[in-house]
Amino acid sequence: MVTGIPGVGKTTVLNELQDLAKQNRVNLSVLNFGTIMNEIMRELGKQMNRDDMRGQDIETQRKVQELAANEISNRAGQGIIVVDTHMFVKTTVGMWAGLPQNVLQKLNPRLLVLVEADSEQIAGRRRGDADRKREAALAEDISFDLEWSRATAASSAIATGAPVKIIKNAAGGQKQAAQELFEAIRKMVGA
Ligand code: AP5
Repeated sequence: MVTGIPGVGKTTVLNELQDLAKQNRVNLSVLNFGTIMNEIMRELGKQMNRDDMRGQDIETQRKVQELAANEISNRAGQGIIVVDTHMFVKTTVGMWAGLPQNVLQKLNPRLLVLVEADSEQIAGRRRGDADRKREAALAEDISFDLEWSRATAASSAIATGAPVKIIKNAAGGQKQAAQELFEAIRKMVGA
């Protein structure tokens, strides 16, 4: 399970991870939780931009979150599955767990990863993503979100027994971050 606050660069790191897996002939696939939720929303007649999902009412998000977890757990057994997701989602009513107990039970992660970066760099990356509806945030708000992610990861670690690995995605350091992630995954699965 690979998580990180918006703009931290987790998808960039996961793209590098997939390249590394191919080069090393490791059967690994990345599933994006938000993409699966977005497809389910569409099937339910709610077509929207992925960045608009967190603005939906919590009951809708909760239902779709659970359906997405079912979908992902159905794909287990096809090599190593890496899920690109969030420890929490900033909804209009507050911070909501991306991996509540029911989702953790379905997905049963073996490793929990937090991708982190310097808060000023995250703010800059968000400003640079013109094609996304990113939250404009001050570095101090981003620091709080990073702390909240760690706190949420700690409770997920207790609930699952899975270790938490923190990986820094420094400026220009996406390949190094992916290498570190690849090694951690290999150690966990013995690949
Ligand atoms: P999701 O698709 O995960 O949206 P996101 O958080 O915005 O993630 P992205 O992958 O778009 O951004 P990123 O931080 O990975 O950064 P990127 O690699 O693009 O989720 C969408 C929605 O789905 C959520 O809002 C939520 O509603 C829902 N959802 C998901 N999981 C859920 C769950 N479990 N429960 C409920 N809802 C859930 O990089 C950002 C920028 O930085 C890019 O320009 C990139 O080029 C640059 N960059 C990256 N790394 C570096 C580097 N090392 N140096 C310099 N620049 C870099």
